Amino acid sequence: MKALIVGSGGREHAMAWKIAKSPQISKVFCAPGNGGTRLVAENVPIEDTNIAALADFAVKEAIDLTVVGPEIPLSLGIVDEFEKRGLRIFGPSKKAVELEASKIFAKQFMERHRIPTGRFRVADSPELARAILAAGEFGFPVVLKADGLAAGKGVLICRNEEEAEAAVTAIMVNKQFGDAGGRILIEEFLQGREVSFIVIADGAKALPLVTTMDHKTVFAGGRGPNTGGMGAISPSPYLNRKMYAQIMSTIILPTVTRMLEEGRKYKGALYAGLMLTDDGPKVLEYNCRFGDPETQSQMLRLESDFVDLLMAAVSEDVLADEVTWNRKAAGCVILASGGYPGPYEKDKTIQGLEDAARTGAVLFHAGTKFENGHYRTNGGRVMGVCAAEPRLSETMTRIYRAVERISFEGMHFRRDIGALEAET
Ligand code: AMP
Ligand code: GLY
Repeated sequence: MKALIVGSGGREHAMAWKIAKSPQISKVFCAPGNGGTRLVAENVPIEDTNIAALADFAVKEAIDLTVVGPEIPLSLGIVDEFEKRGLRIFGPSKKAVELEASKIFAKQFMERHRIPTGRFRVADSPELARAILAAGEFGFPVVLKADGLAAGKGVLICRNEEEAEAAVTAIMVNKQFGDAGGRILIEEFLQGREVSFIVIADGAKALPLVTTMDHKTVFAGGRGPNTGGMGAISPSPYLNRKMYAQIMSTIILPTVTRMLEEGRKYKGALYAGLMLTDDGPKVLEYNCRFGDPETQSQMLRLESDFVDLLMAAVSEDVLADEVTWNRKAAGCVILASGGYPGPYEKDKTIQGLEDAARTGAVLFHAGTKFENGHYRTNGGRVMGVCAAEPRLSETMTRIYRAVERISFEGMHFRRDIGALEAET
């Protein structure tokens, strides 16, 4: 079989790496891919937003299975287009992606079906937003969110009236996130520990993946602005068996079955961002895709054939086979460009990759390109240095030993990934 992976990040490199190992697969393509995916797949120079060109390519190459990494092509309806052309594709349809593409849809869906989440109000004008804030029902801090997709940046946590007013102006008046901020959510601030819970859904049932913990802030100890994720470990140290069962029965299964009832059959990866509060787990947000960098650590623990799992979701029987995971502790440390998550420079030469790979760590590239025999930086998160060992301490030692050998101008990373006091 031939497979096509859509996207260009570390998550896509990890998926391509695993899929290329499947005995069922004869060829893997990655569109557009990165400097690392070329080692396990053939990169195809088609942007992940060019749905028609991707579908034409899949038809021409007779691709048997397409897997979509990022949310943007999903929100543009890539799954609907491929299915219309009779192509097999893993991911939710445009109607199902509404769970991520509209935060207001997601909140109202949870409210309709009593899926645990924080209290909220919707405002469609700055005047209404100010009136809701002035009424004080949420107190401070309060959370303001642009409704639409904003590359993970449309969430503002406001500690006082001035910050809330500035957030309303930024999102609704100055349109900092464009049309995504036409309507906003005003939300209760939830306290607790944050966990990612990721499953593969087949429209009616869901198969949970091994647990992971993401480290979201740019600096150690939970300091600095949020990023897409500066590192991850699997398993998560904070989810026990009881919570796991509670999350499946109160959040994941109701989400999948109610979506089906609402005519939005959910097939694909479903990522619930949760807060473990004193009142139990509550949903912060849904993502309609695998996590990045969570996937990198999960792929190092998956013993089964990933292709079987993806095909089971597409053919709507995700629980048909036993899935095996190893019992190792996996980790991933992200090397980022100077300035990330703010503006950053690209096109820096990356040194030491061969040396790093000799330590036994696995390198999943993200923002890299390969030019004239050299790897150069090409994004904010440049690569994930990963490993899986019987104990987490051994894993992290192996990873940081490899990290020491890699360098590029401005490179920064967190030194506390996997430390229990790291917070996120
Ligand atoms: P989201 O994109 O909705 O996950 O929000 C980004 C981050 O903001 C989350 O990972 C949380 O750390 C934080 N956040 C979002 N919503 C809330 C909330 N209601 N209470 C507390 N923190 C939140
Ligand atoms: N690591 C966070 C995400 O994938 O959304």
